[in-house]
Amino acid sequence: MLRALFLLAAATLWADPRCVNCHQSIVADYQRTGKARSIAKPRAEVQPQRQWFHDFSGRRMGVLWQQSKLTHWMETKGVVEPYEVEWAIGSGREAKNYIVKIGDSLFQSPLAWYANRLIWDMAPGYIVDANPTFYRPLQPDCLQCHANRAAPIAGSQNRYADPAIPNLAIGCDRCHGDPAAHLAQAANGNIVNPAKLPAEKRDAVCDACHLAGESRVANPAMQIADFRPGMAMEDVFSIYVARKNDDDTILKSQSHAEELAASRCAIASQSKLWCGTCHDSHNQPPEKTKANWYREKCVSCHNGEPAEMHKRKVGVDCIACHMPKQRPFDGSHASRTDHWIRTKKSEDKFLDRGELLRAWREPAENLRTRNLALAYLNNSERTRSLRRLREGLLLLNQAVKEGHIDGAVSLAAGLQYVRQKTPELALPWLQRAVDDQPANSLRRLHLAAALANAGKAEDAKREAMQSIKIEPLLEQAYSLLAQIEPARAVFWKDQYRKAVPKRVLP
Ligand code: HEC
Ligand code: HEC
Ligand code: HEC
Ligand code: HEC
Ligand code: HEC
Ligand code: HEC
Ligand code: HEC
Repeated sequence: MLRALFLLAAATLWADPRCVNCHQSIVADYQRTGKARSIAKPRAEVQPQRQWFHDFSGRRMGVLWQQSKLTHWMETKGVVEPYEVEWAIGSGREAKNYIVKIGDSLFQSPLAWYANRLIWDMAPGYIVDANPTFYRPLQPDCLQCHANRAAPIAGSQNRYADPAIPNLAIGCDRCHGDPAAHLAQAANGNIVNPAKLPAEKRDAVCDACHLAGESRVANPAMQIADFRPGMAMEDVFSIYVARKNDDDTILKSQSHAEELAASRCAIASQSKLWCGTCHDSHNQPPEKTKANWYREKCVSCHNGEPAEMHKRKVGVDCIACHMPKQRPFDGSHASRTDHWIRTKKSEDKFLDRGELLRAWREPAENLRTRNLALAYLNNSERTRSLRRLREGLLLLNQAVKEGHIDGAVSLAAGLQYVRQKTPELALPWLQRAVDDQPANSLRRLHLAAALANAGKAEDAKREAMQSIKIEPLLEQAYSLLAQIEPARAVFWKDQYRKAVPKRVLP
């Protein structure tokens, strides 16, 4: 009874008032999907409070749910930093991450709820962190995939307008696009129906969130958030995935999309098989009819006798054998279903992913070198892959020679000169990147650092202060100012402390 009431409460959590009258059953079904709860205000979990000692940092961590408020705290040298949590990311199928808001900046909490273990603990990226903080920026890409609509302030790293997330859970528009024409005149054909799109545009609707790839690169003057259902993704951005060598077609990777593409089912049926063949975007099959639900999809193509396909008797639960559950490879996202449909014979899946990258789908001819160069360089920063750095540099040179010089390319070129410890050569590139986006705090900070390295302290100071003006919580800008003016290091530390009064600084 209690559980039923609880489910009812959860079921009324979300509904799109614009669609509900005419598409009642779809809206009702949709409420049960994870997407309809992809982000929400925090709520009581089974464990209302916990505190524990985090060995790696030597700090005490804690969580408390009280009076409908969730507080996460950390104790450093006897001083407690408490933060009220603003939002929870994830429906809680496996885990939830949390967001705290300080000023108008959003940050990730180092603490997470593990629904599968019913326990509070360190969030995935913080388990072996010797210095966990509540100040890791929540960059817009996170909300791009997990919220229906967020309002990041252009050029800032993690500042958001008020309200920061005007629409919480993922809604109809994210797959059906702008419904204005349809709302003006209810009919087929005047709103995007993904299933009716050509294969690449159809797949792009899901790939936009379900295929993270190794790297995502926006076209010049574009942002990933500009993508809308119905568009060709590569008119806005391209996704890059790993490959081993030039003729590597069997992808050995982590994403549903890549795995599915490696399946004989997908290759041999050309573009007929897609996410929507097996998944109803508005509905999830109940646990007890699940096996049948998926079997029906399999036999829509494999319509022979299962016993003949197998030369022996097998049960009806096709996915139990052909799409088994697996533990994640990189530990980041939750346990998942292997989408590489195959016979048991080939198990070599995660062995060798390769360091080279390739476009999931190629962008326009004139952007290929530029986008691939940026994919390698951005990725090599994160993964520290020397091979990827080398590939990226070669391609960047080529892109510049071909005359593809925009803000992102200038930034990449400038950063390479910084890496090579030739800040003077970096300056014109970084200046160009700043001119391209004067309100971009990080570009100004990069320029400031290069100016400081080139011995131009006054100019460096001006740029660093400018980046603080854009982004008052940009910690690295204060550290840079302390380096530029060692005599005033304490002053700059105090300035930062004023911006984040709760934070316990070493
Ligand atoms: C006034 C009633 C009405 C409202 C409001 C409405 N729809 Fe529809 N919708 C229809 C009708 C009628 C059709 C045609 C389907 C049919 O004939 O059964 C349709 C069809 C669709 C289709 C299929 C389009 C195609 O070409 O295959 C989609 C998708 C859709 N609606 C989504 C939405 C979404 C999303 C909303 C809310 C933003 C919405 N609708 C609001 C009445 C409505
Ligand atoms: C706006 C980003 C976004 C788009 C677009 C998107 N998804 Fe998702 N999807 C998510 C997120 C986030 C989750 C996990 C939600 C959770 O459990 O917190 C998810 C969960 C799922 C699940 C797991 C079951 C569930 O309901 O939680 C399936 C299946 C799925 N998506 C299929 C699709 C398909 C098919 C498409 C394309 C037609 C698609 N998604 C488009 C973000 C997206
Ligand atoms: C490219 C899109 C994308 C980005 C970026 C992304 N996620 Fe996800 N995330 C997903 C999808 C899709 C799922 C669900 C399906 C899956 O596990 O593959 C998911 C699953 C999750 C889950 C588990 C949800 C559950 O119900 O168990 C959490 C928690 C989560 N993401 C947090 C984050 C946080 C925090 C960030 C940013 C720091 C982030 N994700 C960045 C797409 C994304
Ligand atoms: C994750 C992507 C996704 C989201 C979110 C989504 N849809 Fe759909 N919708 C689809 C796809 C894919 C189809 C085509 C289904 C098919 O024909 O295979 C579809 C079809 C439809 C149709 C017409 C066909 C039918 O099944 O009757 C309507 C109406 C519709 N959606 C309404 C909605 C409404 C209302 C919402 C918000 C509550 C919504 N959709 C949210 C992906 C989505
Ligand atoms: C859109 C049609 C389609 C759907 C849906 C589909 N398959 Fe397939 N599948 C194929 C085709 C075509 C082949 C290749 C047959 C061949 O090469 O003769 C194939 C091959 C296979 C193979 C052999 C793989 C190998 O590596 O040799 C297995 C196993 C398989 N499918 C299982 C499934 C299961 C299980 C499902 C449901 C979860 C499913 N398929 C859904 C079309 C489909
Ligand atoms: C041949 C059928 C099939 C196709 C095609 C398919 N899936 Fe799935 N998917 C499944 C099955 C089976 C599950 C497991 C469902 C369960 O255990 O509840 C699943 C689960 C998921 C989940 C939940 C998390 C997990 O891994 O268990 C997500 C997210 C998902 N699929 C996304 C996608 C996306 C994105 C695509 C397209 C690239 C896709 N699927 C294509 C059969 C399919
Ligand atoms: C008990 C585990 C199991 C179940 C359940 C199962 N399969 Fe298989 N399947 C296998 C194995 C193992 C093979 C490899 C051939 C063999 O050993 O029979 C295979 C092979 C296949 C092939 C490739 C046949 C060929 O000619 O290469 C297809 C297609 C297939 N299965 C589809 C299905 C479908 C559809 C279902 C559900 C009706 C299903 N399987 C249920 C284990 C299973």
